[in-house]
Formats: sequence, structure tokens, C-alpha cells
Amino acid sequence: AKEPARILVTGAAGQIGYALVPMIARGIMLGPDQPVILHMLDIPPAAEALNGVKMELIDAAFPLLKGIVATTDPVEACSGVNIAVMVGGFPRKEGMERKDVMSKNVSIYKSQASALEQHAAPNCKVLVVANPANTNALILKEFAPSIPEKNVTCLTRLDHNRALGQILERLHVPVSNVKNVIIWGNHSSSQYPDVYHASVVTGAGEKPVRELVADDAWLDGEFITTVQQRGAAIIKARKLSSALSAASSACDHIRDWVLGTPKGTFVSMGVYSDGSYDVPPGIIFSYPVTCENGSWSIVQGLPINEFSRKKLDATANELVEEKALAYSCLN
Ligand code: NAI
Repeated sequence: AKEPARILVTGAAGQIGYALVPMIARGIMLGPDQPVILHMLDIPPAAEALNGVKMELIDAAFPLLKGIVATTDPVEACSGVNIAVMVGGFPRKEGMERKDVMSKNVSIYKSQASALEQHAAPNCKVLVVANPANTNALILKEFAPSIPEKNVTCLTRLDHNRALGQILERLHVPVSNVKNVIIWGNHSSSQYPDVYHASVVTGAGEKPVRELVADDAWLDGEFITTVQQRGAAIIKARKLSSALSAASSACDHIRDWVLGTPKGTFVSMGVYSDGSYDVPPGIIFSYPVTCENGSWSIVQGLPINEFSRKKLDATANELVEEKALAYSCLN
């Protein structure tokens, strides 16, 4: 039998946490033959709710779940973890300045970076979900210098899946037949959902999404804005932000990272930029990647047209500004 994997979920008493922990315990993140031990962290005001989640996990009697750590102590939470899903953060409240929210999150991610660096298992893989996701991940990376930079990522897979969803609704094809949409940049409304490289497997072979949709005005307009603003649309409808789709996408992100992407298929992940596609190095930027042997690589050599170039530059600029704002909070 396999050794259990220790998986940290921060903010585990929140709404994404509530959707995510049962998925992990069911084997949706690491597969049906991988036992897991859940480490759940939240802050003291949420300790009682966190304990309630622990009680429900016990009551659900998940066969793969070999242990539960539920705590408000970051050191205990981070000890020995192989995977860390960082969902906890400070939400933007009405009337708050962007800088105040940034400042709260920078201090959370700075201190959790050192808890992870000192106590996580070697080669721990980190996924930051909490917003501002790219910049929280950057701060975590900067303050955990002994964690390899390739191990710190942020979630844009939800945006990627939203883009797939829009194409499926339009073409009425199964999701497994559509591949290689891309989310470039920030997990914010400046992100660029790109279908110039996406294709659909049909009875007559693989066809470009653009050819099958045959509506450039929609693809260059409403499709992009729908994906960019989907988070806001969910909040408007539910009065709460997306949780089940965020949790499911977080499982997709980790599963593909650990177990690999199918041949010829790429997915979107926020990763530390090495300057690929003339994006400034030193920011966490969502790129198309493939994964093999537990490691991601940026897909290289995709042609970028003028339309896409402008959109890549805009979202990169926003991330450079966010980085500056985050650093101004540190001083
Ligand atoms: P929530 O407010 O329901 O839960 C957040 C939890 O984090 C709360 O239980 C809170 O007590 C906890 N928390 C706060 N500070 C903490 C700390 N220092 N350490 C540990 N836990 C802490 O929020 P929800 O809806 O679960 O969303 C969580 C985050 O995910 C938000 O920042 C949200 O904006 C972000 N998000 C990101 C998405 C993505 O695609 N990257 C998609 C949807 C949400």
C-alpha cells in the first residue's frame, strides 16, 4: 500500500475549503489509490467551524482518508506536508483600498512562507488560490527561498476550465474533445483567455476551435469578457464567490501537475516567469504548460499575433504593478 500523502488546505473552514476537502478525501486530487492525510489550517475565530468540518470528515468515513489535522497553528499545519493548497486569505471588504487588502495578504503569505519553508516535506508543491493569487504566490516564493521556485504556483485552472465551458456550450461537444485553450497572465479581469491554439477532436480529425466556432467577433469579444468576468457573475448570482468550481479546478491543477498532462495537451498554470513570450521575468504569470514526472514546463514556440500580444502585455503590466504594490507594503 502507498504511504499517505499529507495535504495542507489553509482557510479550510471557508467555502472553498468546505467544497475542497471532501474532493481530496475522495481521491479526486491524487487518484483513487493514493491515501491522504488532511492538514487543515484556519484562524482562531474560525476554530469552531473548522472543528465542525473535521467532524463531518469523520462522519463521511472516506476510505482514503487516513488522518486529519485541524489546527490554528501554522507550524503544526505545515509539518511534513507534501502538497499545500493555500486558500486562506484576507478578503476585500466594502470600502477597503486595494493597498490595504494587499498589505493584509502580503503579511499572511510572508509568514506562511516561512512556516512552509521550515516545516513542509522536501519538494512540497504549493498552489495558491487566495486572491490576489499571483501576487500572494510571488510573496510566498520570495519568502521561502529554499523551496524550489518551480514548486510555487497559483490557480488559473478555474479560468481555463471556464474558457473550455464557454466553447462547449457553443459547440455542444464533450469536454474531453476540446483542448489547448490558454489563460495568460493574472487571475483577474485583465487575464487573456486565448483560443488561437485550441482544437476539437471531431469525427473528421482535429479541427481548430476558431474554424468550428466560425465567429471571430464572438471569440474576440464576448467570449473573452465572459471568461474574464465570470467570477463577478457568480458572485452576483450566488451572493458568494465560486467555490465548487474553484475546488474542482484546484484538484485538476494538482492532479495534472503530479500525474502529468496527456500527450499533446496543455493546461494553464500560474508559474514563475522566466521571460518566455517576452513576459517580464520575476512575476507569477499564467502560461500554457505541460507536466511530466511531477514537473511543469512552459509550452514554447506558439505564434503570438498582434491581438494577443497587446493582451499579454496588458496583463503582464498589471502584474508588475501588483508586485510593486506588494513590495511597497513590505517596507
Ligand atoms: P472564505 O472567506 O469563505 O474562506 C476563507 C477562509 O480563510 C476563512 O475561513 C478565513 O477564516 C480563512 N483565513 C483568513 N486568514 C487566514 C490565515 N491567515 N490563515 C489561514 N486561514 C485564514 O473565502 P472563499 O470563498 O473560500 O475564498 C478563498 C479565497 O480564494 C479568496 O481569496 C478568494 O478570492 C479566492 N478565490 C480564488 C479563485 C481562483 O481561481 N484563484 C477562485 C475563487 C476564489
